[in-house]
Amino acid sequence: MTQDELKQAVAAAAIAYVVDGEIIGVGTGSTANFFIDELARIKHRIKGAVASSEATAARLRGHGITVFDLNDVAAIAVYVDGADEITPAGAMIKGGGAALTREKIVASVAARFVCIADGSKLVDTLGRFPLPVEVLPMARAAVMRKLTALGGQPKLRLKAGSDAGFITDNGGEIIDVAGLSISDPVALEREINQIPGVIAVGLFALRGADVCLLGEGDGVRTLTF
Ligand code: 5RP
Repeated sequence: MTQDELKQAVAAAAIAYVVDGEIIGVGTGSTANFFIDELARIKHRIKGAVASSEATAARLRGHGITVFDLNDVAAIAVYVDGADEITPAGAMIKGGGAALTREKIVASVAARFVCIADGSKLVDTLGRFPLPVEVLPMARAAVMRKLTALGGQPKLRLKAGSDAGFITDNGGEIIDVAGLSISDPVALEREINQIPGVIAVGLFALRGADVCLLGEGDGVRTLTF
């Protein structure tokens, strides 16, 4: 199976976790896009969705799915999203698609986090994928120095085909931190959260996944945490 077929398979499997009559939290990225397309088939069964990015909101609306502002929603039954890396304990690196802050907020409201990923995302130790950190632009250099002191090699994410920094939906910039071997994701998430100027770090360990649907050559494997 190709990577896209594996993503498609886990996206289809995630439909089993959708709670009828409820609002669904929806992540961002190529795997989440497959999920949105699957969700469209059963849109009559849900009240609507909360999106983790402008791109996801546009795709949901394109399918005729009602998109709610998080401020108008008291509860989210389930949040479905991809990951850049996930451990056998359910801790993740996210933010390859630059939507980490809203993803973290929506996930924090959801009763259940269902991660959907192709099997290549499962790792023993997080950190081979550079850790995304969203920052206020005026704090960029100061935060980079702190991340270097933590042992990482921070690099500003650039807008494709340009020398300018990539700007997120929130007006932030993204620093990608290479060279970290993250043995204690909860401790590192707390530590980076404390750096002034950090909007969010792409470590999802304090609130990790509850379930991971992992696409493998012989089918979808379900990990529960
Ligand atoms: C976006 C994310 C994505 O979930 C992550 O980058 C995985 O993306 P894809 O499904 O395209 O592999 O965190 O901010």
